[in-house]
Amino acid sequence: MTGTESAGRRIDTTKPHPARVYDWFLGGKDNYPVDEQLGHRIMAIDGGAPRAARSNRWFMQRATRLLVRESGIRQFLDIGSGIPTEPNLHQIAQATVPDARVVYVDHDPIVLAHAAALLRGTPEGATDYVQADAREPHAILEQAGRVLDFDRPVALSLIALLHFIADEDGAHDLVATLVDALAPGSCLVLSAMTADFEPENVRRGIAAYAEGGVTLVARSHAEMGRFFEGLELVDPGIVSVADWRPELAEGESDIGPGPVSLYGGVGRKRAS
Ligand SMILES: C[S@@+](CC[C@H](N)C(=O)[O-])C[C@H]1O[C@@H](n2cnc3c(N)ncnc32)[C@H](O)[C@@H]1O
Repeated sequence: MTGTESAGRRIDTTKPHPARVYDWFLGGKDNYPVDEQLGHRIMAIDGGAPRAARSNRWFMQRATRLLVRESGIRQFLDIGSGIPTEPNLHQIAQATVPDARVVYVDHDPIVLAHAAALLRGTPEGATDYVQADAREPHAILEQAGRVLDFDRPVALSLIALLHFIADEDGAHDLVATLVDALAPGSCLVLSAMTADFEPENVRRGIAAYAEGGVTLVARSHAEMGRFFEGLELVDPGIVSVADWRPELAEGESDIGPGPVSLYGGVGRKRAS
């Protein structure tokens, strides 16, 4: 694990942080009053926010199951991993493939403070945590290379991350740099916010986050598609996370009808 400076000393409880607000939506306890206040503001705009967070989490689980069961993937690089929430990605992967290797990356010190839970994997497998910013993909690749073999397929998971990174802040470049480093047969698993389904709620939600000092971007279906350029989209393509491969669901509760404002998709890198 890298990032040895005491995380506790660096946790800023004066303004909301995305990882902690998301934890609050998921019913977690690793958040502070500022995060809860923003959570309540978002709930007043869109009471479905916790449902969207759960649905996104389940998308991660279904996509991970697909990759270990059908694509033969044994290695995962999960950037923007968030505060541990069981089951975590390595638990899903190692349930099928005990020797799966997983590297988690996040830039928020609260994730570092709780990273021990991300490191408790099977004895046959390996998990590691890297404290880094997604906008520094070369540094991430270098550190992840201690655990992952980039000559073999890797699943790159960018789940509910890219709506915190604008195009002008390098979102497309960082995805291209990371995907370039992956071997053929590797996959990109991506989910991010969209305003395509509930434009007014999402617009107001973005404004509430902005008042809390957090920049969010919503992307259209076509804009999401750009992240997958050069990759082969796995069925059913880019859809609301709630609608992605429901047959892979395990232990999900019924979230009821209605849209979830996050698109999700999986793309595979072909042999060149
Ligand atoms: C909404 S949470 C998603 C957590 C998890 N991937 C999931 O989908 O359940 C977004 C995470 O991305 C992290 N994040 C946001 N911007 C980041 C950046 N530039 N570099 C690294 N992590 C970032 C946040 O700290 C947070 O933990």
